[in-house]
Amino acid sequence: MHRKKIALIGAGNIGGELAAQAARLELGDVYLFDIPDKLGIAQGKALDLEQNGSILGYDVRIVGTSNWDDLASSDVAIVTAGIPRKPGMSRNDLLGVNLRIIRSVAENLKVQAPDCFVIVISNPLDAMVHEMKRATGFAPEHVVGMAGQLDSARFQLFLAREAGVAVKDVRAMVLGGHGDTMVPVLSYCTINGIPVRQLIPQNRLDAIIQRTRDSGAEVVKLMGSSAYYAPASAAVQMARSYLYDEKRLLPCAVYLRGEYGVHDVYMGVPAVIGGRGVEKVVVIELDATERQMLDSSVQGVREIIAAAESL
Ligand code: APR
Repeated sequence: MHRKKIALIGAGNIGGELAAQAARLELGDVYLFDIPDKLGIAQGKALDLEQNGSILGYDVRIVGTSNWDDLASSDVAIVTAGIPRKPGMSRNDLLGVNLRIIRSVAENLKVQAPDCFVIVISNPLDAMVHEMKRATGFAPEHVVGMAGQLDSARFQLFLAREAGVAVKDVRAMVLGGHGDTMVPVLSYCTINGIPVRQLIPQNRLDAIIQRTRDSGAEVVKLMGSSAYYAPASAAVQMARSYLYDEKRLLPCAVYLRGEYGVHDVYMGVPAVIGGRGVEKVVVIELDATERQMLDSSVQGVREIIAAAESL
């Protein structure tokens, strides 16, 4: 037996929050990796968080590093390396810069941690996770993207506030790509089992869907950089489900091989995450509007992947 090892590639805003949450849950020892220029930040966050453990009562090793050798044999790698959006930018504007970064991360992960479960957060998400799988050559079950849980969390929050109910009573799913074409699946959206359409009028639902789509940009506009608390929580939930073989059914970006009639692209769909990684892609029936939205989302994802392939 050995203590699990969590590699966090990128020690910025999301990386720091990932480290804090992973440590609190004692998921394993945490290695916070960044480029040599940011080594001090990675080490400073690591030390602060180890000290935090002596107040909160958790005890794992937290190491800041720029040395890939330190990540050898990691069990899980969560990748936030790259640049985030600035106000006015779309996720796709990050493609050129982040693609180069993801390629170099993939080359190193392939050598250091060939058996790890990789969760990609860097944007544009669908293209980055696709590239991670291609460049590492890892099995698709071991490379996933975090987006659906975050988009679903945002959707659930707005629905709960609109209906005046506790957010934990709202179950909603957002599928498709992580961008303007995301697909909020209203037909499966319930408030403690009650179909949401019975409780919220369509015009309000439409406004909530639009706010969900724009929610990442709303945060960027407010604070000048992208969200980090909720993205980190979502990725930690995925990591935990893998490490503890919890078999959570979560909306996440997984590699489709014919499910939903889609081949060879990453797409946000419900999937079971357990000890073998992505253990099952769950195919649900969609109504005609949702199906149409999913198809155009697939188209959008294919376009960004094609743009990535040409770079
Ligand atoms: N290897 C490791 N880390 C890198 C590399 C690299 N090759 N290149 C850049 N980084 C680091 C940066 O030095 C920075 O510390 O990635 C970190 C990113 O942190 P932030 O700039 O704070 O960005 P963050 O808000 O954490 O978002 C990261 O996730 O949600 C997406 O759109 C977001 O693409 C962005 C990513």
